[in-house]
Amino acid sequence: MKEILFEKARVARENSYSPYSKFAVGSAIKFKGNDQIYSGCNIENGSFGGTICAERVAIYKGISELKKQCIEAIMIVTSGKDGDYPCGLCLQTLSEFSDDETMVYLANPSEIKREFKFNDMMPYRFDFFK
Ligand code: THU
Repeated sequence: MKEILFEKARVARENSYSPYSKFAVGSAIKFKGNDQIYSGCNIENGSFGGTICAERVAIYKGISELKKQCIEAIMIVTSGKDGDYPCGLCLQTLSEFSDDETMVYLANPSEIKREFKFNDMMPYRFDFFK
């Protein structure tokens, strides 16, 4: 499953629209109990604030099709040698749709470099319902 996510995220990264930062990101998500993979790339905007990260594109594509789901795993592909961590806004978005088992994989375009349980990556976080 990791390998499929890696391939989908790599392909999505090719569509990155990042003329400003020139930092291309691809992401792919599998939800629990659903075999469909949802992928996304970062899409920048000349107003900068309108930019959206690859992770949130993938999450929102999935949620908009399936309603609220729990993420089983997310892959993030960047150019960083060891992969790169998701930004704070994406972490908070991930936390909305994660559980104790949710996995986060970080990769460069050639290989998967690191993996974390989401909870270990963001142990202290805002939870409206808590
Ligand atoms: N970016 C992502 O796609 N995901 C992240 O978690 C961090 C940043 C994008 C946003 C912007 O297009 C570029 O990377 C530089 O910040």
